[in-house]
Amino acid sequence: MEAILLVGGQGTRLRPLTLSTPKPLLPMAGVPLLEHQLTRAREAGVRRLVFATSYRASMFTEAFGDGSRLGLEIVYCTEEEPLGTAGAIRNAAQALTGGPADPVLVLNGDILSSHDLHAQLAAHRKADAAVTLHLTLVDDARRYGAVPTAPDGRVLAFVEKSPNPPTNQVNAGCYIFRRSVIDEIPEGRVVSAEYEVFPGLLAAGEPIYGYVEAAYWLDVGTPAAFVKGASDLVTGAMTSPVVSGAEHGVLCLDGAFIAASAQVGGGTTVGEGARVGEKARVESSVLFDGAVVESGARVVRSVIGKNARICAGAVLEDVVIGDGATIGPGNELRSGLRVWPGVELPPMAVRFSHDA
Ligand code: GDD
Ligand code: MG
Repeated sequence: MEAILLVGGQGTRLRPLTLSTPKPLLPMAGVPLLEHQLTRAREAGVRRLVFATSYRASMFTEAFGDGSRLGLEIVYCTEEEPLGTAGAIRNAAQALTGGPADPVLVLNGDILSSHDLHAQLAAHRKADAAVTLHLTLVDDARRYGAVPTAPDGRVLAFVEKSPNPPTNQVNAGCYIFRRSVIDEIPEGRVVSAEYEVFPGLLAAGEPIYGYVEAAYWLDVGTPAAFVKGASDLVTGAMTSPVVSGAEHGVLCLDGAFIAASAQVGGGTTVGEGARVGEKARVESSVLFDGAVVESGARVVRSVIGKNARICAGAVLEDVVIGDGATIGPGNELRSGLRVWPGVELPPMAVRFSHDA
């Protein structure tokens, strides 16, 4: 089976991390986020992939080249201006080699999922569907596409990002399309799969089916989700064939250093050449390459960008620090705060109010 990877988005919700790197290439447990999906697709029998790129397209070629490193064949279709999810699928289809009746796997580029691709394909074939969507259950469907289904799995509606979703069953961002359905998507303009193509196919009475599986699933589109995905890969709550060497809830990459009296755990990645000083505490966090957490600092559920420096005694909880930033001693940053790359926060500049 051939696959199209949707990797052209700007990843705005993950700024500032995505200012320099597209979301699917952010390092997660030691490899680009996308690599976890690529190896799962390969294990399910996918050999040839078309990357639908736009934002910082050349970085994908640098990271994956022709795919041979991963035992895959990868080709690239780049949109000068982003064409939307379905426009991107249509544009990438020019590089497919299969016939009109062949199934084409389409994947959002920011998903960690352990669902059974074979079973999804089997369901697609059995129903002779135009499209079969992987559906999963979430607590709050407002950030996703809500997809109610009939008892036989037939999709009844597609309601993208509604304040009042009709169900908690959502589009998990992994589709199998009949090739001829892709060829019907209008060419050369912006088209949304979620707002235009799926509702249009349903209105036309096309057989769209849901494949429901509640396996591990996460959309890594926000800082909180990014931290959760990375820590789940390190603790083993999510298994990926490309994660190796994690021990006691810590993944230490080449040249990383953790001082003897530091406490590091809860699914933390310490990037290449990153350092954690004496008596520092780092929990469920991601330290990108070269990041430094000095002595006595505390970092919880946070992402520390490349070569950023967290000075002695600073406290960080649920925050994102951009590449090369310095957080001076004694600062206390919490609750979704984001520091832009290169910023130098003076000592004691920000404190969190405990009175609120
Ligand atoms: N090539 C290309 N061109 N790719 C795009 C474009 C584009 O114009 N726009 C978005 N993408 C890619 C993104 O890079 C990402 O990998 C994928 O399409 C989905 O975009 P997101 O921005 O992550 O969408 P979302 O998370 O808000 O919602 C989507 O995913 C949810 C599941 O995670 C929707 O498909 C929802 O219905 C779904 O529930
Ligand atoms: Mg997403």
